[in-house]
Amino acid sequence: MADFEDQDWKPGALNLRREVHVRTTSKTYVVTQDANSSEPGAMLWEVSIIVAKLLDAGALGDDADLAGRAVLELGAGCAVAGMAYALRGARVTFTDLPALCGHVRDNVARNLGPDGYRVVPYDWCDGRPATLVGEAFDVVLGTDCVYHAHLVEPFLDALDAVAGPRTTVVLAFERRDEAVLAAFERGLRDMFKCRPLLSTKKLRAILGDDVLLRPADDGGEPDARWLSILVCKKRKSYRGDRSRRARADGGAKAAFDATRAAFLAERGLD
Ligand SMILES: C[S@@+](CC[C@H](N)C(=O)[O-])C[C@H]1O[C@@H](n2cnc3c(N)ncnc32)[C@H](O)[C@@H]1O
Repeated sequence: MADFEDQDWKPGALNLRREVHVRTTSKTYVVTQDANSSEPGAMLWEVSIIVAKLLDAGALGDDADLAGRAVLELGAGCAVAGMAYALRGARVTFTDLPALCGHVRDNVARNLGPDGYRVVPYDWCDGRPATLVGEAFDVVLGTDCVYHAHLVEPFLDALDAVAGPRTTVVLAFERRDEAVLAAFERGLRDMFKCRPLLSTKKLRAILGDDVLLRPADDGGEPDARWLSILVCKKRKSYRGDRSRRARADGGAKAAFDATRAAFLAERGLD
């Protein structure tokens, strides 16, 4: 059997093993991935680990007492970020595309056991699932949920649908494509007041070498500008136009499917 250390997830490395171990101060998660799947959620993404570590360090703001609080994770995938909230006593609802829910459930059950959370299928193009209607969430969580243009509008629709006036939305993502993120952040700021969390210096102080610094675009010191962490609250002035418009737009799902198919084909994953 492989040595435990061999399976540790390492920043910046190709962590393609079927089973990887993620060490945080409160837990070592055992995560199952599938590098042969065309589904991005079948692999573990670095920002989810960063969120779990920041939560352990008490550095995510509004997170002092999570016991009993209702947390919804969107696009959970391997679900490390949501599991970190569950370990702090939150009642977590993990969601993802229907095809990913078995994978989410397997990972969560392996690390948290059978009880104390829910796994609910939620495709952002289909509107809020009936099982979640009427529920208010204290925290909505999304790690690396916007990595291509076709996800911008559906993900904004989902955030609008699940976040109420008291919800804290915690988002973390890699800055891969500034044009895509500019569109996302424009839509996000229409609905939410957003507070960017932590400079490179502060991240380094909290996480040390666990935060991978990447070469700066301007040739300066390596930094963590590849990473955005935002803590958001709905604007009082926002009147919910987005979800009404999304419901009226019957073409949204077809457009999403077409662009997603093109995205997978570009990468030979169709
Ligand atoms: C890059 S992965 C990130 C997974 C996980 N949050 C992490 O950080 O490891 C993006 C996630 O968004 C999910 N996703 C993509 N499109 C979706 C949609 N239309 N509805 C719901 N989830 C979606 C994927 O299935 C995947 O789990």
